[in-house]
Amino acid sequence: MTIGILGAGYVGLATVAGFAARGFSVVCADVDEKKVTVLQSGELPFFEEGMLEVFAASSIPVQFTTDLALACRSDVVFCCVGTPSAANGSADLSFVESVARTCADAAPNAVFVLKSTVPPGTSRSISALVDGQLRVAANPEFLREGHATADALHPSRVVIGADDALTLTVLEDLYRDTDAPIVSTNTITAEMIKYASNSFLATKISFINDIANLCDIIGADVRSVAKGMGLDDRIGSKFLQPGPGYGGSCFPKDVRALMHLSESVGVPLRILEAVTAVNADRQSLPYRQLVKSLGDLHGKQIAIWGLAFKAGTDDVRDAPALKLIDQCIEAGAKIIAYDPKVRSLSSECNDVEIVSGAIDALKNADALVIMTEWPEFFRFDRAEILKAMNGNCIIDPRYVLVS
Ligand code: UGA
Repeated sequence: MTIGILGAGYVGLATVAGFAARGFSVVCADVDEKKVTVLQSGELPFFEEGMLEVFAASSIPVQFTTDLALACRSDVVFCCVGTPSAANGSADLSFVESVARTCADAAPNAVFVLKSTVPPGTSRSISALVDGQLRVAANPEFLREGHATADALHPSRVVIGADDALTLTVLEDLYRDTDAPIVSTNTITAEMIKYASNSFLATKISFINDIANLCDIIGADVRSVAKGMGLDDRIGSKFLQPGPGYGGSCFPKDVRALMHLSESVGVPLRILEAVTAVNADRQSLPYRQLVKSLGDLHGKQIAIWGLAFKAGTDDVRDAPALKLIDQCIEAGAKIIAYDPKVRSLSSECNDVEIVSGAIDALKNADALVIMTEWPEFFRFDRAEILKAMNGNCIIDPRYVLVS
C-alpha cells in the first residue's frame, strides 16, 4: 500500500517516520521548495532527535517532492498541513482546503485523512467542499515535539474517525500491525478527542501554575505538592510541572480554537477561559519578578537561558521566552540569550544577542532568567552562576536550580 503525505512539518514528517518504519512506500510533498531540498539532501528542516535515522533505515526510500498531485495519487493520502490561528481565534483552514481541492482534482475518490489538528466538523465540511469527491477521514496526531520519533513509532493510541464503514476499514487495516490501542469512531468525535486532549493537558498545566502562585505566597513547595498529587494514579504525575506558561505551536492555538467553536455554538467552555487567563498571567510572571527585583529595566542587562518553548526542540513558536524578550526590550533592557539548540531568532528579535555558552550569557548580567528546562542548566548551582554575573537576581520559573 502506498502512502501520500501532504505537508512536511512536524506532523507530516512524524507520519512519514511512522509509515516508513513499518515498510510502507511513502511520498511526502510540500509546497516549500527550500524545505523539500533540505529533506532531499538527507537533512531535517528542524531539530528532532532520531527522525533522520528512521528515514535512513526504511526499506523503501521515502520520496520528498514539491509535486502535491504525485503524493495524492497514493492509496491513502494524509493531510498534515498547518492550521494556524485566525485573528478571531478560530483555526484557519485555508491550507487544508487548498490541498483537499488539489487532491480531489488529482485523485478523485481518494481516501483523504486529516492528521492536521482541525476543529470538530472539519472532515465533513471538507467533504462538502469537494462535493464528496474525497473519502474524508480523521486520524489526529498526538506527537510531542522533542519526542516525535518515539511517538510516531509507538503511539499511545490511534484514533480513527470515518463516517462510512468502508473508509473506516481502510484505516483500521492500515494500523492493524501497531500495538497501540485503536479508537474507531466517526469523524467529528475523532476530531473532538484531539482538541479535548490538548485542552485537558493545558488545563493541568494552568492548574499547577495557579497552585504554584499560591504556594509561593504561603511558603509551600509546589514541586512537592505536584509530587504528592501525582502519586495518586487518578491524577498522574505528568504535566504537573510549573513553569512560565505553556507555549508552542499547539496548546495556545488549539485552546483558542476550541473556545471559539464552543462560543460559536452557545456552549462556552468556561474552564478554558480560566486556563487561558492563568497562562497569560504566568507568562508575564518572569517580567514582573524582574521589575520587582531590579526596578526600572532601562539600561539593565538581562541574561536569558533557554529560548525554545520547551527542552528537546529548537522551536520558538509561542515560546514564553519571546514574550519576556519583547517586554524587556520595550522597557529598554539589553538581552543576552543562550539556548543549546536555538542559534538565531527571526528579524523581529534582532536586538537579542545570542551567545554560544550558558556562562557567556552571564557576563555583566544584572539578572538571569531560566526560561527552558534544558538538562544542561540543571548542572549549575546558584553560587557558580552568581560568580559569573554582575547582579544577584536569578528568576527561575521552571524551578531548575531548586534541587
Ligand atoms: C502537545 C501535546 O503534548 C501533544 O500530545 C500534541 O500532539 C501536540 O501538542 C500537538 O497538538 O501537535 P507539544 O506542543 O510538542 O505537544 O509540547 P508539550 O510537551 O505538550 O508542551 C507544551 C507546553 O507545555 C510547553 O511550553 C511546555 O513547557 C509546557 N508544559 C508541559 C509545562 O509548562 N508543564 C508541564 O508539566 C508540561
